[in-house]
Amino acid sequence: MTARAVSPRGQRIAVIPGDGIGVEVTAAARRVLDAATARHGIALHYDEFDWSCARYAREGAMMPPDGVDRLRPYDAILLGAVGWPGVPDHVSLWGLLIPIRRAFRQYVNLRPIRVFEGVASPLRDAPPGEVDFVVVRENVEGEYSEIGGRLNRGFPDEFATQQAVFTRAGVSRIVDYAFDLARRRRSYLTSATKSNGIVHTLVFWDEVVAERAAAFPDVRWDAEHIDALAAKLVLQPRRFDVIVASNLFGDILSDLAAAVAGSIGIAPSANLDPTRTYPSMFEPVHGSAPDIAGQGVANPVGAVWSAALMLEHLGHPAAASDVLAAVEACLADPATRTRDLGGTADTDTVTRALVERLGHHM
Ligand SMILES: NC(=O)c1ccc[n+]([C@@H]2O[C@H](COP(=O)([O-])OP(=O)(O)OC[C@H]3O[C@@H](n4cnc5c(N)ncnc54)[C@H](O)[C@@H]3O)[C@@H](O)[C@H]2O)c1
Repeated sequence: MTARAVSPRGQRIAVIPGDGIGVEVTAAARRVLDAATARHGIALHYDEFDWSCARYAREGAMMPPDGVDRLRPYDAILLGAVGWPGVPDHVSLWGLLIPIRRAFRQYVNLRPIRVFEGVASPLRDAPPGEVDFVVVRENVEGEYSEIGGRLNRGFPDEFATQQAVFTRAGVSRIVDYAFDLARRRRSYLTSATKSNGIVHTLVFWDEVVAERAAAFPDVRWDAEHIDALAAKLVLQPRRFDVIVASNLFGDILSDLAAAVAGSIGIAPSANLDPTRTYPSMFEPVHGSAPDIAGQGVANPVGAVWSAALMLEHLGHPAAASDVLAAVEACLADPATRTRDLGGTADTDTVTRALVERLGHHM
């Protein structure tokens, strides 16, 4: 484990705006970061990379062959979104996001969910301020494995197989991370499983969760089958604190949870290497939204909240909580809500309001 030293020039951020609204919300997040870092006397140095589907169309690859090596020296990566019609989604995902997550052992995918004042959840039982939980998704193994293949293509006996991979090291470290996070929150952990149906990998998952729980006697925990858990997230979202899940289950749960919180436009995520050996990556949960791209109406909050998670990871918790306070105030004001939240404000109006709040005494 090597902790990264902060250079006198400040911490270095690689910015990958990507495609569509990724470019718009990343620019907004940069403006908010500038205001927050100025306020707290923090030096961040940015380099921008044009890796995207547009680059793929031009040059045949989402990023250069040495892309991962070029990112290695950075302290963090801020990403907008990648994906564009005409480029298959598995190309944009496996050509950029997944190689970065895996090469930098970003084994935690952290997705905080909150229902804010001023944001109407589609759920009756989700009043603002009371729904506040985090989905901790295993990010580098599990169901999203490269092991598998297709045989007898084009014949009636064609088949495909994909091998899920659950390792003791991989499950232990994600579960430990989640328990530790729960301990710093409301000390309640829920493990997503399906060991009644998937009788090898998820029985193993359950066993490791129970083993690791012994090291966290102060954290209350339970296990829920994924189908029942999905229903409970909708019916009783207030009861959750930290949910730990495998790669596939966590992926699905966190999008469901983002919808519970009112809009995918506000949901943030962090891909973390908790050992800090490699750069971690911060990105909104939403995609490139081709349907609204270029119109200047995207909600910048998902990217801005992701930037706040980055500030926290880089050791600037006061700046991070100021950004979140500015977001809270903005969402509470009908004049600074975007269309996806039923408002009329555009990206620039929201961004200016956030910057202005960070410029004032808070
Ligand atoms: N991490 C990523 O980079 C990522 C994540 C999801 C999807 N994608 C890619 O993005 C492309 C579009 O995917 P999609 O349409 O399924 O998902 P999407 O998240 O881009 O859009 C879904 C819907 O939500 C709306 N929306 C999303 N973000 C918003 C915001 N910030 N403000 C206001 N409205 C917002 C969109 O207008 C759209 O109607 C695809 O190519 C997909 O592969 C990338």
